[in-house]
Order: sequence, then structure tokens, then C-alpha cells
Amino acid sequence: MQGKFITLEGIDGAGKSTHLAWLAEFFAEHGVKAVVTREPGGTSLGEKLRALLLDKDQPMHLETEALLMFAARREHLDKVILPALTRGNWVLCDRFTDATFAYQGSGRGVDWARLLTLEQWVQGTLQPDLTLLFDLAPEEGRRRAGSIKTPDRFEQERDDFFGRVRDGYLQRAREDSKRIRVIDAGASIELIRRELREIMEPLCQ
Ligand code: TMP
Repeated sequence: MQGKFITLEGIDGAGKSTHLAWLAEFFAEHGVKAVVTREPGGTSLGEKLRALLLDKDQPMHLETEALLMFAARREHLDKVILPALTRGNWVLCDRFTDATFAYQGSGRGVDWARLLTLEQWVQGTLQPDLTLLFDLAPEEGRRRAGSIKTPDRFEQERDDFFGRVRDGYLQRAREDSKRIRVIDAGASIELIRRELREIMEPLCQ
């Protein structure tokens, strides 16, 4: 049986990492074998590309940034995601292609049509089975991330950048509302966990 591919998305500070750790435990409790991974990264080459992409002292053209995201993704699909799904494992991935549309497309201004071409090239018709979009106002994201001492190349961006990123995510959610579930990341952790349980329990049957 083919495993399920689940991705988590949201602006920086939306609490993805906390929810991802909780979901990994939830899966383990339900006897679901899940590979937990992230983008950019997840492979040895991908992690090297991630270091370049997040380095605030490494300027790059906006399209270079988009191409490197997809290069890391190509490797990730080949080495980690597709083998795991084929084995029947689930894949729980911290960010995937929706992030490129939101950050490089809406945030930086790369033409969405170009990103659609790259998406088609790198992943064909493959899409996550489910995407959880943790939606949060940029000001709240910044407040939560406020304690980060040395912000990376993305974290150092201003609220207007994250406002565009948020809009990009919501646009993707409107375009693929069956796949992308929008979760109010400003709600209490108890409420969010209840919602996650309601979404996940039927999938784990
Ligand atoms: P993380 O902090 O959630 O691990 O993600 C690293 C950063 O990379 C985050 O600021 C968002 C950014 N990113 C993009 O800009 N485009 C992408 O396609 C991905 C996967 C991440």
C-alpha cells in the first residue's frame, strides 16, 4: 500500500514545528510508520543547499533562490519521499512546494507561471495527500519568533514580506481547497490539537 504524504505549511512563527512533533507522536500512537523530514533539506545535498539558502550573508537572485528550492526538492523526492511512500510509510514533511509559491512567488515576486512549470518538471502530478496550513497574522508570527537571536535570511524579512507570503499561501489554499486545510494558528493549542485529531483520526483507520 502506498503511504500518505502530509505537509505542514505556514509563515515563520506559526508554530509548525510544535505541531509537527505532536503529529509524529500521534502517528506513533496509532501504529502509523511515518518518516519525518523537512524542506529545504532532508538529504545530505539538500541540507547543504538549505545552509546556503538560509545564510543571511549569502545574497542571491530571486530566481536562483526558487531554483535552489526546487533542486533540493528534486533530490528529496528521489532519495527520501518517493522511496518512503513506495515502502508504504507515511511522510510528514515540514514545508513543500506551497512554500515556494508563497515565499518565492508571492513574497519575492517570482512569476507563478514559472513556478508552475518547475513544479510540473520536478514532481509531475505528485501532490501531498493533505496539507495543513497554519495561518497566522505576520505581526503575531513576529511576536512569537521575537526571541530568535540571529535571524536567518528569511526570518530577517519585514512584516509586509510575511503578509505577502501569507496571502500566497491562502491563494494556494483557495486553488486546492480539497488538499489544503487552513488551521487558525492563533487559536489555543488545545483547540488546534482537537482539530488535528479530528482531521487525522479518519486517515489513520
Ligand atoms: P523553516 O524555518 O520552516 O525550517 O524553513 C526554512 C525557511 O525556508 C523558511 O523561512 C521558509 C523558507 N522556504 C522558502 O522560502 N521556500 C521554500 O520552498 C521552502 C521549502 C522554504
